[in-house]
Amino acid sequence: MSEKPPICNYEGSDYQTSFWDQSDRAYEDAVEAVALKRLLPSNGKLLLELGAGAGRNTPRYAGFERVVLLDYSRTQLQQAQARLGTGDRYIFVAADVYRLPFVEGLFDGATMIRTLHHMADAPKALQQVRAVLQENATFILEYANKQNLKAIFRYLIRKQNWSPFSPEAVEFAALNFDFHPRTIRSWLQSSGFKLERQLTVSHFRMGLFKKLIPLNLLVWMDSLAQLTGDAWQLSPSVFSLNHTVGANKNAAGGAFFKCPQCGSALDDTPPLLVCSGCNQKYPVDGGIYDFRLDEVIKSSQL
Ligand SMILES: C[S@@+](CC[C@H](N)C(=O)[O-])C[C@H]1O[C@@H](n2cnc3c(N)ncnc32)[C@H](O)[C@@H]1O
Repeated sequence: MSEKPPICNYEGSDYQTSFWDQSDRAYEDAVEAVALKRLLPSNGKLLLELGAGAGRNTPRYAGFERVVLLDYSRTQLQQAQARLGTGDRYIFVAADVYRLPFVEGLFDGATMIRTLHHMADAPKALQQVRAVLQENATFILEYANKQNLKAIFRYLIRKQNWSPFSPEAVEFAALNFDFHPRTIRSWLQSSGFKLERQLTVSHFRMGLFKKLIPLNLLVWMDSLAQLTGDAWQLSPSVFSLNHTVGANKNAAGGAFFKCPQCGSALDDTPPLLVCSGCNQKYPVDGGIYDFRLDEVIKSSQL
């Protein structure tokens, strides 16, 4: 895979409004809330939310003292600011998951929900996440599962040409990938994570179910079905709870950001962070730290 995997850019997207607020997705949102509640630790210090988008899930991380919302899209982060406010509890960071701007061993928790499915180089993304986590930190990963019942049925009746059983990812639309659970498990292991628990989620993600069955009942049915996740994974979405294993130095007190270009530690000096190693400058504008190398290099050349 290339040094610089492509990014699925949500800049200017109305994803939160069109996909969540104005569409019939109360069921999907509610069952994700159930899964997160089951997997999140009751408390923690500093959580990294990767691909936070407009902060739909952020209020669910109430047990953590502080949350870093990381997303490549500034406009998604602005929507998150509007939803959550800009108090001390939240830190808004525009950056690429493949080039995280944090010192090693900084976080005691991380979540990545509905974001891995945009990763053309998922193992690289997982390795980046592992590096910024402390020893025995919690990582909750959600991924889109190619081996789901609908895909299996469509494959069997020959309406779909890719096999839901084979290990490789399927790119069903540009930069949208479904993964095989076995492959995800092996990537997690080789990236330094120990898988503790799996919940299968969104079993009844079909218009007919949503039309015929009251929301509360459907959510209750899914919350029961989620508990089969360690035995088999046949739902379109899978949540997993992982802990980091292996040696990792925890971040030295005070160190937080690092330069995504050269790796030197950065002093936190808004409105401009200047790297002492390579002199790259990173602006902090409207309460958002901007570490998107392509964007900051482009604007410094204007
Ligand atoms: C489908 S949205 C999910 C948002 C949120 N997690 C949720 O569940 O509502 C995916 C998010 O991932 C972000 N994203 C995609 N690729 C990224 C990358 N390489 N680095 C940082 N963020 C990325 C997008 O900007 C977008 O906000």
